[in-house]
Amino acid sequence: TPDVRPLVAGNWKMNGTRSSLDQIKAISEGVRNELSEKVETLLCPPATLIYVATAICTESPLMIGGQDCHPETHGAHTGDISAEMIADCFGTFVIVGHSERRSDHGESDSLVRSKAEAAHAADLTAIICIGETADERKNGQTLEVLKRQLVGSVPDGATAERTVIAYEPIWAIGTGVTPTVEDIAEAHAFMRRELTDRFGAEGKAMRILYGGSVNPSNAKQLMAVDNVDGALVGGASLKAEDFLAIYRVY
Ligand code: G3P
Repeated sequence: TPDVRPLVAGNWKMNGTRSSLDQIKAISEGVRNELSEKVETLLCPPATLIYVATAICTESPLMIGGQDCHPETHGAHTGDISAEMIADCFGTFVIVGHSERRSDHGESDSLVRSKAEAAHAADLTAIICIGETADERKNGQTLEVLKRQLVGSVPDGATAERTVIAYEPIWAIGTGVTPTVEDIAEAHAFMRRELTDRFGAEGKAMRILYGGSVNPSNAKQLMAVDNVDGALVGGASLKAEDFLAIYRVY
């Protein structure tokens, strides 16, 4: 998409301990040494590493984010963390509605929407994840599912600055299988139309990431697809060399 700065984002999921900090350091330094004005970079480690990760990245354009947040700012919610807490650790993004949250924790579109609203209230950029299951794709329901999730999960008044959409077909996550470039182009063009219809110029400028088995060998082809404004990378973001190889596509 013209006039949009793409985003290469890593989602570490439930991986990473203090011994992984050397990988965060290597990504942070790699991005700084190979500075590109063309693309933004983000890493979302587990919550336990957010504070130390932002300390590592003070001299680097690499941004740090959370993987989830509670819709409320604080209170009696054992085990949860709020968007405020991520911001307090100098995180600037948060992923919401990842399919693993939706399936492991039964998160609905309306809960995801309230998490995105909480992110915005804390001045974080929300990466809102959507995507169809294998069955839904087989039954030809992909676009209908994406529409329902976009309508249900993206808050009114969403802006391009504070909202990123991540299209992650569930069957492509961690499987090594990706949709064809034609299928990705169709899904992303559809989401672009939906976002533009609802949010006008903001929807036109909103980044739409592709996620699901992105790796150094397929990134170039996937990132070249129309309306793909970057990647949300799982497994391949755990190794600095792989993450940086994907970054270099831009
Ligand atoms: O959020 C990123 C993710 O779900 C994709 O995971 O391991 O297929 O790149 P992976």
